[in-house]
Amino acid sequence: MNVPLLDLKAQYVTIKSEIDAAIAEVVESQRFILGPKVEECEKAIAAYSRCAYGVGISSGTDALLVCLMAENIGAGDEIITTPYSFFATAGSIARMGATPVFVDIDPVTYNMDVSQIASKITSKTRAIIPVHLYGQMAEMDAVMQVAQAHHVVVIEDAAQAIGAEYKGRRAGSIGDYGCLSFYPSKNLAGIGDGGMVVTNDAKKAERVRILRGHGAEEKYYHKLIGGNFRLDALQAAVVTAKLPHLDGWTAARQHNAKRYDQLFREAGVPVRTPQVRTDRHIFNQYVIRGENRNALQDRLKKSGVGTEVYYPVPLHLQECFAYLGHKPGALPESERAAEETLALPIQPELTEAQARYVVECVRGFYR
Ligand SMILES: Cc1ncc(COP(=O)(O)O)c(C=O)c1O
Repeated sequence: MNVPLLDLKAQYVTIKSEIDAAIAEVVESQRFILGPKVEECEKAIAAYSRCAYGVGISSGTDALLVCLMAENIGAGDEIITTPYSFFATAGSIARMGATPVFVDIDPVTYNMDVSQIASKITSKTRAIIPVHLYGQMAEMDAVMQVAQAHHVVVIEDAAQAIGAEYKGRRAGSIGDYGCLSFYPSKNLAGIGDGGMVVTNDAKKAERVRILRGHGAEEKYYHKLIGGNFRLDALQAAVVTAKLPHLDGWTAARQHNAKRYDQLFREAGVPVRTPQVRTDRHIFNQYVIRGENRNALQDRLKKSGVGTEVYYPVPLHLQECFAYLGHKPGALPESERAAEETLALPIQPELTEAQARYVVECVRGFYR
């Protein structure tokens, strides 16, 4: 049996006519940059995220970058974040000339261990970037408490977490800014790169909007030094067309996760399965932990099961961050997770037979 980690075609065939029509409409209009399709998408995604404003951005990475630009983050500033994330989280901080300050993860949720944040605050701290990893939100009450006590902004990296909820509040709606990604492997995906900044603050939304178009409010008159961070109309049209399906896809992912949990329990496999601690985990990834992870991954590959390691090297040990001076052992939970975690296929279209096969292959490896 073949079980790919992600089968984009399996989703596309179910909504082909809607996606093709959305693309055709943009091509017919020949309005490719910003315009009505992007505005429609911004309104729809902001409403879905329960935020007042949405600003379409070229990618999730650029969404993080433009929020840091909006806060005038630069050399000498420190930004607290997690080392167990995609590179963009810390990369965007370093690109602004600021210093990423890492807080280790809680080994149960893989999100920032919020009890450690306060000890990392200094007079240079300007922001906290919690990441809602795999689709489960970080402990936002604790993050906001520290941030408010020290007057620093919170930029939620919600790239993997559109529609996730913490105490009834959606990803991106709690901090000062929320950054979303429409990268093709995300739950709500475009047909290329795309992203959005969501916020409830009118002034912050306006600043991000100006910065995404080279800092010009009026064409050729540059108030600020921004960049080209515009969301393309084709991506916006596809994302808007897919949005009505998102809750159904999320429900299917949650169902698949529960089924895996049960199958792993029944099979008595010595792997740890994800712990759900928040109201609505949207399962962008379903990640197990076990010994001999690399050999397990090889075995699954030979058996036709696609997997991925998110992420094999924690950010504090990346070569490009050697100048920060972290040594192995500095953030042990992140380092252990990087050695032991493995993401399994969890897409909405995963069949029961495929899920049973995946669990059987994992069981076979550990027998
Ligand atoms: C946690 C996290 N942050 C940021 C990003 C960057 O998003 P993008 O790939 O749209 O630039 C991603 C996605 O890859 C991500 O998973």
